[in-house]
Amino acid sequence: MKHLIDPTDLSRQETDDIVALAQDIIANRAKYSEACKGKKLATLFYEPSTRTRLSFTSAMMELGGNVLGFSDANSSSVSKGETVEDTVRVVGCFADIIAMRHHIEGAPLAATNVSRVPIINAGDGSHAHPTQTLTDLLTITRELGHLDNLTIGFCGDLRFGRTVHSLIKAMSRYEGTKVVLIAPDELRLPDYIKHDVCDRNGIEYREVSSIEEVIGELDVLYMTRVQKERFLDEEEFDRVKDCFVLDAEKMALAKRDMAVLHPLPRVNEILKEVDADPRAAYFRQVENGKFVRMALIYRLLEWASDSSKQNKGHDVVESADLVCPNRKCICNNENVDAKFHLAEGGVYRCLYCDTKAK
Ligand code: CP
Repeated sequence: MKHLIDPTDLSRQETDDIVALAQDIIANRAKYSEACKGKKLATLFYEPSTRTRLSFTSAMMELGGNVLGFSDANSSSVSKGETVEDTVRVVGCFADIIAMRHHIEGAPLAATNVSRVPIINAGDGSHAHPTQTLTDLLTITRELGHLDNLTIGFCGDLRFGRTVHSLIKAMSRYEGTKVVLIAPDELRLPDYIKHDVCDRNGIEYREVSSIEEVIGELDVLYMTRVQKERFLDEEEFDRVKDCFVLDAEKMALAKRDMAVLHPLPRVNEILKEVDADPRAAYFRQVENGKFVRMALIYRLLEWASDSSKQNKGHDVVESADLVCPNRKCICNNENVDAKFHLAEGGVYRCLYCDTKAK
């Protein structure tokens, strides 16, 4: 059985296969209309969502399957103190596959410790969002025709932006990827992505402080919202909330075929005047999310009975001398044993949230 918790749980070949399958689904919708007949998807959303939850629901319906779940954990027995592991054990009695979004980092990985059905991480805190990554890969493929030799500018909240972390991981496996990081000091990309992903895979990256100085060399501009809900300090949020705004004037400096992506929702970082620009791909990106989730559900259900399909994961280190300092990690919020892996530079990182261990 295979779970999707991190983009690298799928090999490059499996990733390409899912993107290709999504394109076949787009071209042959009727062929897949009963592909998951009799199967049930549970959507367990402990954190708000519009696109991810509804696209999962719509995807399963288009595959001929059914959907159950909750969009507000307070309406479930979570409000009585039920843990993620117990909830997943229970829901696994009712559903064939589970998509989980959680504000606590590592919660979907903890779910895999006990689950008898495939778990899909639909976004865990600031950590990862692998199905948004599949959406982004399909969108780039459809907009530009290829995933190799692209220069991608990531702009805005690169610190808390889980979609950014996951997409950089995925793009690091394609030939000739170059990354430009456009963020204020407070919202810079976490070191573990720079070192364990970019440096390790030989990905060229540089950090700049304005959109204007780089937009002309980008193939993809990946805009993100500054996420108020992730800040512990409101004053810090106020200092950076309006840091980068994409408008028609800046778009005039970009390549004619650059694609603007955004995982959405947006607040003020892309002005409405950009929406009519043919290079604004963010609403097409939303629809791609449904097709790629159809492909993912279809494949994970197929692989559920294939013993050769397993998550490889890291070599796990359990040590009483190591502590995860992340207050938003599952190992500091529920009765989940802390586990670590040895990362780049001999550093131990939490298995659940990738924070450097103390
Ligand atoms: N892109 C994305 O994850 O959107 P939602 O938060 O609306 O699901």
